[in-house]
Amino acid sequence: MKNICLFLIMLVAMRSAHSKITAEPDSALLFAYATTKNNNKNGLHYAWTIDQKKWHLVGPEHSFVRSDYGTWGAQKRMIAPVLIKGVDNRWHAIWQLNEQDGVFASASSEDLIFWYRQSYPQVLVGDNVSKPEISCDKISNQYIISWFSPKSNKPFSAVSKDLINYGEVKELDSSSYGKQRVKVDLNGIEEEGTLHKVAWEVIDKIVNAQKLEAYKSLLHNERTEDDMVRFADLKSVKANFSIEFNDQKRISDYLMGIFFEDINYAADGGLYAELVQNRGFEYHPHDKKGSDANWNSFKSWKLEGKGIAHKIDTLNPVHINSKNYIALSVTAEGGALLNEGFDGIVVRNGQKYDFSVFVKNVKGNINGFVVELLDENGKTIAQQIVKSFNKKWQKKSLVLIANGNAKKGILRITPQGRGEVALDMVSLFPQETFKERKNGLRKDLAETIAAMHPRFVRFPGGCVAHGDGIHNMYNWKNTIGPLEERKPQRNLWGYHQSVGLGYYEYFQFCKDLGAEPLPVIAAGVPCQNSSDGGAGQQCGIPLHEMDNYIQDILDLIEYANGDRNTYWGKKRAAAGHPEPFNLRYLGIGNEDLITDIFEERFTLIFNAIKAKYPEIIVIGTAGPFNEGTDYVEGWNIADKLNIPMMDEHYYQTPGWFIYNQDFYDRYDRNKAKVYLGEYAAHLPGRPNNLETALAEAIHLTALERNGDIVEMTSYAPLLAKEGFTQWNPDLIYFNNDEVKPTVGYEVQKLFGENAGTHYVDNTIRIHSTDFKVTSRIATSVVWHENKSELILKMVNMLPVTAEIEVDTAHLTSFDANIEKTELNDVPSSKTVKPAKSVVDLQCLNQLKLQPYSLTIFKLTKK
Ligand code: AHR
Repeated sequence: MKNICLFLIMLVAMRSAHSKITAEPDSALLFAYATTKNNNKNGLHYAWTIDQKKWHLVGPEHSFVRSDYGTWGAQKRMIAPVLIKGVDNRWHAIWQLNEQDGVFASASSEDLIFWYRQSYPQVLVGDNVSKPEISCDKISNQYIISWFSPKSNKPFSAVSKDLINYGEVKELDSSSYGKQRVKVDLNGIEEEGTLHKVAWEVIDKIVNAQKLEAYKSLLHNERTEDDMVRFADLKSVKANFSIEFNDQKRISDYLMGIFFEDINYAADGGLYAELVQNRGFEYHPHDKKGSDANWNSFKSWKLEGKGIAHKIDTLNPVHINSKNYIALSVTAEGGALLNEGFDGIVVRNGQKYDFSVFVKNVKGNINGFVVELLDENGKTIAQQIVKSFNKKWQKKSLVLIANGNAKKGILRITPQGRGEVALDMVSLFPQETFKERKNGLRKDLAETIAAMHPRFVRFPGGCVAHGDGIHNMYNWKNTIGPLEERKPQRNLWGYHQSVGLGYYEYFQFCKDLGAEPLPVIAAGVPCQNSSDGGAGQQCGIPLHEMDNYIQDILDLIEYANGDRNTYWGKKRAAAGHPEPFNLRYLGIGNEDLITDIFEERFTLIFNAIKAKYPEIIVIGTAGPFNEGTDYVEGWNIADKLNIPMMDEHYYQTPGWFIYNQDFYDRYDRNKAKVYLGEYAAHLPGRPNNLETALAEAIHLTALERNGDIVEMTSYAPLLAKEGFTQWNPDLIYFNNDEVKPTVGYEVQKLFGENAGTHYVDNTIRIHSTDFKVTSRIATSVVWHENKSELILKMVNMLPVTAEIEVDTAHLTSFDANIEKTELNDVPSSKTVKPAKSVVDLQCLNQLKLQPYSLTIFKLTKK
């Protein structure tokens, strides 16, 4: 960022030098337009001229604002924008969105560079708002919006004082429409837009804003693969490092946490230890929006043998929330029902498995099942019999003990007798789960997570929390209580959520990890990329339903924290946890589009929580990026409502992390605290390798330094099942049998294991004047007051050794034996593991940081 400031100073200096030689004009003509390229998705462009002959394209075709309407990919179009300077002295842009909806887009700006939130007023039903125009009547202080409606083949108009509320739509005389846009020949290509006479200063700022963007993009896209050229003359780097041990500040105890979202099969088929896939026969083609013919209520099941048939029934189910069950009709013995699990069931010799099923006899004399686990050769490796069914649903349970191994095992259920029998909630769990919990979590995966020492767990999303439509929002009440009473639903990542891993299990997991629970609830609006509902635009829970919605959120707090005699506390106690879970944090919203629809709903929720549970720390949301409209508008709401903490998200290139180490040093200490809820370094191809991990390590050193304002951080996403991944990179990959932590995981774990209570002031003086060199070395020092440990973290992201001379004057009171942990390899390495050794304090005098390395020294007070 320092470099970017330097660049700005350079631009200003160049400009004043320039204005000394040539006289700049007082004003120029600005042309604002959008092209039809990329299906109209390239947003707003500017060009300028002084003589109306030579046009200068800014960028060329730099996008100053893009449309946010609808889903990514298909929509987000800006058609025929029109700009005016409004009665409020701000710039207003309106544009057409598509060829069918009766809505248009509106946004405003003070400087034509930064654009505030967009709104999409609906003025027509059943017809399209085509090529809207805007004018302002300075006498009545109102705007007149006019447009053409293709179906009625007429222009219409509506007036508005604030561009939020609109008056009655009236037909317009055709002579009063269609005059605002002009055609300009932009050096051989004709474009349509609006012309504005503006002060030269306006043009100058626009041009410089674009140049700054271009410069930043160059820096942020630097990759290690070009380091040999970039640093061809660099042989080594020398630096002096000193620690001012007595200069400390308290930092957050919750800096290192995790974000668990059911993406990439993280829950069902992943952390949730259930081995039967589609146990409740609730899979539905809509889970995948009809894209997979085999994805239905029989998914992962099959029949074997003759004389057996099935149907999926809904009459008199076990529970209305899980309405499907399977009815088997058996005409000859020997036929069986098989479940293949999630791409096979892993069975381990000697291990015990809890099998359970809801069953009822419909007709005939079926009065038992043989329940077996088969290995991949069809050999039975566990067997038991379930007996005596009656005409009402009954839950039957038994324990299977495996006498063989299978990587791709099968569950087989063979009815005994002939007739018709119904089954539901067919379940198989290893008894060995994390902390031996029933309905528990996969031990190896949970232990890998626990090894990170997460101080908090954010759940259940992410996008899963707010869903991709109002009816897809995660409803915590559907996820508690007996499994057969929970309400499964579509997972917007393109599969199914059994919600067997629900709110109770999340809270229990947090407790087992010794981590703070941090649930995230939708702010009454679904995902930015919603495809369900609202003509493709962001919709919100209707205002008349918000009271109920807010009550659900207040009920969640009672469920977590209420006494066991409260209505919801009693349900928690009945599930097995009479003591409160001590919920302190609650996220409202997830990187939402910050619109009027959002703000209205967020404010209602925020005020209600504050009134009833002032002790809860509500975490607001600042959009999906580290800058831009949602970020600024989100933080503006934080200021307005005095929100205690804000959730920020950004997935950035390694270069961004290298050159933005002072991102939080610039934050106002009197404003909301920060929860960096989602971040990761992304390279083309999306690997998780040493290059991305070191960029994240650089950022983590800066986060520790800013641990007074940054309260919490979590990498995203956490888990990914091989072959079932929607998002890369992730922190921990796994299959049914193995857990494969990444290099990024090692960095998170090292920072988790080596956290401190205080940040210790330290100075590194690198003997180089090249900011590309100095930006690639980062340090942080923390002190853990309870453990009396001083921890130095040093990142060298250069292709050469960094020779550091540490001033050990303040370190004489520490034990001479220091624990050293080093992570280093080639930047493309995906397999490097940290190496631990014990070194002598003296080695700090002539410290060598390996190329592409993270090195940690742990000193213990004598
Ligand atoms: O971490 C994956 C996704 O990234 C989250 O669901 C969402 O919040 C973000 O866009």
